Amino acid sequence: MKTYQVPQYGDISQMQWNEHPIPEPGAHEIVVKVAASGVNPVDIMIAHGDFKLLFPQKTPFTLGNEFAGTVSAVGSDVTRFSVGDEVFARPSEKYMGTFAEFAVAHEDDVALKPANLTMVEAASIPLVMLTAIQAFTEKTKVGPRSKVFIQGGTGGLGSIAIQVAKHLGAFVATTVSTPNVELAKELGADVVVDYRTENYELALSEYDVVLDTLGGDETLRAMKVLAPGGTLVSVVGPPDTSLAEAAGKPLLKPLMFAMSRKPRAAAKKLNVQYKFLLMHADGAKLEEYRPVLESGEIRPVVGSVFAFEDTDQALELAEAGKIKGQPKPKPGKIVVEM
Ligand SMILES: NC(=O)c1ccc[n+]([C@@H]2O[C@H](COP(=O)([O-])OP(=O)(O)OC[C@H]3O[C@@H](n4cnc5c(N)ncnc54)[C@H](OP(=O)(O)O)[C@@H]3O)[C@@H](O)[C@H]2O)c1
Repeated sequence: MKTYQVPQYGDISQMQWNEHPIPEPGAHEIVVKVAASGVNPVDIMIAHGDFKLLFPQKTPFTLGNEFAGTVSAVGSDVTRFSVGDEVFARPSEKYMGTFAEFAVAHEDDVALKPANLTMVEAASIPLVMLTAIQAFTEKTKVGPRSKVFIQGGTGGLGSIAIQVAKHLGAFVATTVSTPNVELAKELGADVVVDYRTENYELALSEYDVVLDTLGGDETLRAMKVLAPGGTLVSVVGPPDTSLAEAAGKPLLKPLMFAMSRKPRAAAKKLNVQYKFLLMHADGAKLEEYRPVLESGEIRPVVGSVFAFEDTDQALELAEAGKIKGQPKPKPGKIVVEM
């Protein structure tokens, strides 16, 4: 089978195509014929080596962190899935490698694909939907009276995060660039601030939760819209000690404590909290949200689809979105189709 691999940590321009035998499943694993795989900014970060302290990979390794596809083999102890089932997942770090014709996942990370979604649509969902759910239910407790501010409401993450927050009953504000204002409203945002022409600090106040998808100075700036006691959850960083714990690397706690000093100090001054989230695999949560996806209450937003052979172009587009002056990707997710 064909795989798209990182030969050594570095630039995405050095990625390689390789051939491997189709994997065999272990007792609790399933093998999936991948139909589509979502592309995420984290893929580029992993290729660069940004996560090598936490989740070291032996090079060469296959990139890609979510898929939709059809089960082609099941391990001896797998009871919940059968050959032929259509599934979707964000496999845990150990199973990374969905830019491939076949992928292996632990059965606990996998859920049945929502029947109404195409493979491409389903592949766009797991990583960002789980991120939003974990930000709003594990790091914070978003509910019917919550006011939630989401930066970048029509990005891959923001477009689903708006819908997850609305599903939980929250009042939602978001920032987007001028061409994406209407889409953010369609996705359910109650207040849409055009970050190119308006200052959100003047428009928003007394929020309970901020989902920070931008990082840097924006983390400190976005904190100011929180009510006392509110929480900013950053998915960009810097990481706090919870990440060392979650990754099972307690020795990295002092490093992460030091790294997060600036936002923690800023939060303390404002009487709010700073938390970092690195999302994790959770097949049961995908299963729980399957009816919400099937009812259309949460819908995928796919911006661009590339053929598997053009995965390099898909990653270049994802990377270009972060570079000033480069062409911006369309709103929503980038997906490669096998
Ligand atoms: N820690 C985790 O577990 C985790 C999980 C998922 C994602 N992430 C991170 O979250 C970030 C976003 O991911 P993504 O998939 O949504 O990326 P994406 O699809 O590239 O979206 C980024 C969005 O940011 C918006 N944006 C850029 N500058 C902005 C500004 N000044 N104000 C408001 N919005 C602005 C862009 O909007 P315009 O195009 O309209 O400018 C775009 O919609 C990435 O850094 C990713 O690595 C982390």
